[in-house]
Amino acid sequence: MRMLAAPPPGDERRPVYGPRWNSLTAALKLSRDPRRTARELRGEFGNVSFISVLGRKVVVALGPEAAEELTRNRDRTFATGPVYEFAFGSFFRRGMILLDAEEHRSHRRIMQHAFTTARLATYTEQLQPVIEDAIEAFPEGPVDMRAQFKALTLDVALKVFVGVTLPRAEADEINAACVDMIEAAGAVVRAPIPGTKWQRGLRGRRRVERFFRELLPVKRAEPGPDLFSALCAAQDEHGAVFTDDDVINHMIFILFASHDTATVALTEAAYQLAESPEWQEKSRDEALEAPADLTYAGLADLPVLDMVTREALRMRPPVPVIPRAATADTHIVGHFVPKGAFVITLTEANHHLPDVWDDPDTFDPGRFSSERHRPEHRMAWMPYGGGVHHCIGMHFARMEVLTTLHHLLRTVEWCAEPGHTMHNRGLTAHAAFTATVRRRAEHPCVDAAWVSTCDEP
Ligand code: HEM
Repeated sequence: MRMLAAPPPGDERRPVYGPRWNSLTAALKLSRDPRRTARELRGEFGNVSFISVLGRKVVVALGPEAAEELTRNRDRTFATGPVYEFAFGSFFRRGMILLDAEEHRSHRRIMQHAFTTARLATYTEQLQPVIEDAIEAFPEGPVDMRAQFKALTLDVALKVFVGVTLPRAEADEINAACVDMIEAAGAVVRAPIPGTKWQRGLRGRRRVERFFRELLPVKRAEPGPDLFSALCAAQDEHGAVFTDDDVINHMIFILFASHDTATVALTEAAYQLAESPEWQEKSRDEALEAPADLTYAGLADLPVLDMVTREALRMRPPVPVIPRAATADTHIVGHFVPKGAFVITLTEANHHLPDVWDDPDTFDPGRFSSERHRPEHRMAWMPYGGGVHHCIGMHFARMEVLTTLHHLLRTVEWCAEPGHTMHNRGLTAHAAFTATVRRRAEHPCVDAAWVSTCDEP
């Protein structure tokens, strides 16, 4: 056991202790199985401990109280800029999450105007036909569900966020450039060496930036119902607006922030529905009763699917770690944190704490029904983060995920391939599985029988 830093003399805050893992062991343990690593650390040191990763002291702060302190940042001593700059600043520079303090507040005030209820209702209208078309073309047989959702969310991004229908070749090129940037952010080799993901990511950034820069004058002159136009038009109550560079930087970050997250949420929900035929059936019954075309207000008619989605986000939060950098000597739940340390909370681990959630490893959407008792702490369930940087797109994300699953349930039925495994890539939250998919027969009872026989040899 070792100590991170001694608190100043007379200071009542407790020191943070951690295990004697070397940097590589700590990095591997954390990235491969954050939930297990968190349990190990919590068992030995309690909710606050530290490890060294890539030469950095990283405080691991677990539990809803720590998550709230970290994200609310009352003392203004936790910053996002330095950590996210390190993680993906080369590709997503000056995205909202990289901004801090007053600059963040003023940009967020402007961006909020692109996510009003009226705007969300318009985005829902735009999104329906895109999702309907994609689900209509959903393949049958063994299907890599993650790949399908990834393609679908990119289509949504181009049409609903950017408001363009490009020739297939150009759409593929822009999509590929986006994927290159996203992949580069998680690359191990983090230098522009030819042939590396990093290099491809930088090329992708240049391509996507050129694409937005060329389109920007058109959007400013003839705004459409898309998010890009909304960012061009957004202004706060004092009349402040985004510059051209701001709009481009925010758009590029939003493509990133919305894409993998929605893909993970959809894949996990589809996986859990494949594993739980009774929830798939209940959700389908509800989807068939609701109108085919949803409105934003109409999402309230899908309470079962809403519970399923919430539970999927609890089981596998797409952003499994929330990091900050201590910009001054500070503290977290009574422990002394020296300036310069990184502090993380592990959302996925927090969502599986046995003293916070009953039977946390079981998929149980019913726990979100109003009749059941739920953890009281508002950060017990925190897939969208909390505090000043909480996800600005959370209502959009909920709408996109519910709408996609709604159409999927109405059109096809699926079960997990026998002997399948859910591929899990630890801290990156990536998950993939292959489902057997088939078009729904007209009679729902036939479908239910098929789903329940899927696991039989
Ligand atoms: C299921 C889908 C999504 C999940 C789970 C998710 C999760 C999160 C989380 C946890 C954060 C906070 C990170 C931190 O505090 O360090 C965040 C921030 C953010 N998200 Fe999302 N997100 C999702 C979808 C979206 C969508 C669809 C958009 C945009 C349309 C979006 C835009 C953003 C932006 C701009 C931020 C930065 C906010 C700020 O710094 O003030 N996200 N998201």
